[in-house]
Amino acid sequence: MVTVHQPVQHSANEQHSANEQHSANEQHSAKYRAERTGRAPADATLNEIIAAQEEIFVRRQPNSAHLAAAAQQHLAGGVTSSWQITAPQPVWLSHGQGSKVYDVDGNEYVDLHGGYGAALAGHAHPAITEAIKTQVARGTHFAQPTPNAVAVARELGRRFGLPRWRFANSGTEATMDAIHLMRSVTGRDLIIKIEGCYHGHHDSVQVSVAPEPEQAGPAATPYSAPSSTGIPKAITDLTLIATFNDLASVQKILDKHKDQVAGMILEPIMMNAGIIKPAPGYLEDLKTLLHRHHALLTFDEVKTGLTVGPGGAVKQQGVEPDLITLAKSLGGGVSVAAIGGTQAVMDHVANGGYEMVGTFNGNPLAMAATRAMLCEVATDAAYAKIKTLSERARIGIEQAIADTKLTAHVVTAGAKGCVVFAADPVTSYRGFLGVDDRYSHAHWLYQHNGGVFLPPWGKIEQWLISVQHDEADIDRLIENFAVFARAVGGPP
Ligand SMILES: Cc1ncc(COP(=O)(O)O)c(C=O)c1O
Repeated sequence: MVTVHQPVQHSANEQHSANEQHSANEQHSAKYRAERTGRAPADATLNEIIAAQEEIFVRRQPNSAHLAAAAQQHLAGGVTSSWQITAPQPVWLSHGQGSKVYDVDGNEYVDLHGGYGAALAGHAHPAITEAIKTQVARGTHFAQPTPNAVAVARELGRRFGLPRWRFANSGTEATMDAIHLMRSVTGRDLIIKIEGCYHGHHDSVQVSVAPEPEQAGPAATPYSAPSSTGIPKAITDLTLIATFNDLASVQKILDKHKDQVAGMILEPIMMNAGIIKPAPGYLEDLKTLLHRHHALLTFDEVKTGLTVGPGGAVKQQGVEPDLITLAKSLGGGVSVAAIGGTQAVMDHVANGGYEMVGTFNGNPLAMAATRAMLCEVATDAAYAKIKTLSERARIGIEQAIADTKLTAHVVTAGAKGCVVFAADPVTSYRGFLGVDDRYSHAHWLYQHNGGVFLPPWGKIEQWLISVQHDEADIDRLIENFAVFARAVGGPP
């Protein structure tokens, strides 16, 4: 059902803010095109197409525009997280149901944004809703363990193979604990991180997340580039940067910093640079190499976790790390994270060697939702259905690409997928840097204006197919893509 909202009345202040917002959006938009692509726009036609689609986008969403303007008075930057500042303007949502979300202007979207990969359950899933309702009536916070925590840890152990678990509230907390733990167990300070991987917003990993070419350093010896202001150089220097799918780059660091590296953190399938898969044998060899140097291996499965399959990349790739971090889809839409480890590593927590703490860790509401997610929602049958839908999306989009002169290919991993606007597969961040982001932005706009909400931020993100999507949802994605492909690619 589409909710139609009453027009909002606007004060002079709000109008002023609307102008400010508009100009901020314009600046953001220009920055997006000129800087995030890493080059000045060359193709006037593509830029014209983007401008026309942005105009349609704004016209369809007057209430979003006014809310964005009003929010400028109370929320820093007019949003609740800086990633919600998207060009041409932030989209304000009213509600979600099943596979759809609805904006404050009453527009319906097939939701493939999935809250940046957190909505594998879709929206208001009956099992999650019921679990939350039941728990709310029994109390939402004690800071003492509840029986659901054991059931969740047992099920995570079964799926991911690691025997001991703890909980946290966000992916950032989980990777922060994992890095503390690697340092605590080994007594070493240095960590290795992959260029182009995002692991949250704590100091140790806000390094070389998406460096511009001039910041990134030589490909053979990437710099440790701070990804934000406010990160002390003393911390940045402790994070050494390697290249995905390049074992030699890790070997070089381990040789140079003998007996000083605590461990390495990486996404086993990179998912903050489109989707970049590990080369055959890479993860296995990485583990062997790190262990030879008495360093630990953490897989950050905050994104891949439940979305690439029931046992994440660990099971899909057949390599068991020392530590794994989960968040996003784990709680069925409720904020929760988990850290799993080998007996040897987690004994260090059990015996007090590392104090892993948090008031809301194992929160009863989060545990109830997570139990429902694991036991009732993310079932084998659900994964089978998602696999069929993912194939449908891939085949349909590939056909639309073949019908035009567009240079692009599709990459999927379980419920996740994206279109990479390049001829050849991307294998590391440097290859990703070279992909023209304008195509992704134009594609996002076409989908949005056509009633499909993909994650913003162009080439970085992926779609997420939830357990509640169906064939009609995927067909809307394919149809919009075909329209976009004809507009930007023309006939072959
Ligand atoms: C791979 C990965 N790790 C960690 C995080 C941080 O998670 P959160 O935003 O819940 O702190 C993210 C967020 O996008 C992520 O993609």
